[in-house]
Amino acid sequence: MQRDAAATPGGPGAFLTDIQTLRRRAREHIAQGAVTPGYHADRDVVLRLLNEALATEIVCTLRYRRHYFMAKGIHGESVAAEFLEHANDEQQHADQIAERITQLGGEPNFSPEGLLSRSHAEYREGSSLGDMMKEDLVAERIAIDSYREMIQYLGTKDPTTRRLMEEILAKEEEHADDLASLLEEYSG
Ligand SMILES: [Fe+2]
Ligand SMILES: [Fe+2]
Repeated sequence: MQRDAAATPGGPGAFLTDIQTLRRRAREHIAQGAVTPGYHADRDVVLRLLNEALATEIVCTLRYRRHYFMAKGIHGESVAAEFLEHANDEQQHADQIAERITQLGGEPNFSPEGLLSRSHAEYREGSSLGDMMKEDLVAERIAIDSYREMIQYLGTKDPTTRRLMEEILAKEEEHADDLASLLEEYSG
């Protein structure tokens, strides 16, 4: 952590930048919006990671929507309702991530070209209701692992992005849990 010369070593303000310096820094590079000189993360890396997460969310939205329309059979209706709910959550995640990308001065990549290779999760259609749930559970588990890594990388360098990813991670864990229970009901 960078310490400011004006902070008294060991004093109450030891780890905080003094207000004059904060004000001066905020006036420099105003065009960078939310990105201040105190931003310690590697912005290019964060933007790349966020665009990969965005691709993951878009692929998950598409896969859940397909599953929603294809869900049939005795359990079809209740499972379809769950698929739709997850599709809408993933869409919301995509929007939140895109918003954060623009706050950081980047551009959200919505291009269909290369979408699947940017995404961590796969687009698997699945032939039966059981298959669909399994594929969705696998995709959630992939997202959980990659988001957890991303959060570890962000550490204290970009707390806002980290908090956003933590919120999304919690939701993906909920999704995985929902799917695991549905699968158990379905096969049991
Ligand atoms: Fe998501
Ligand atoms: Fe999810």
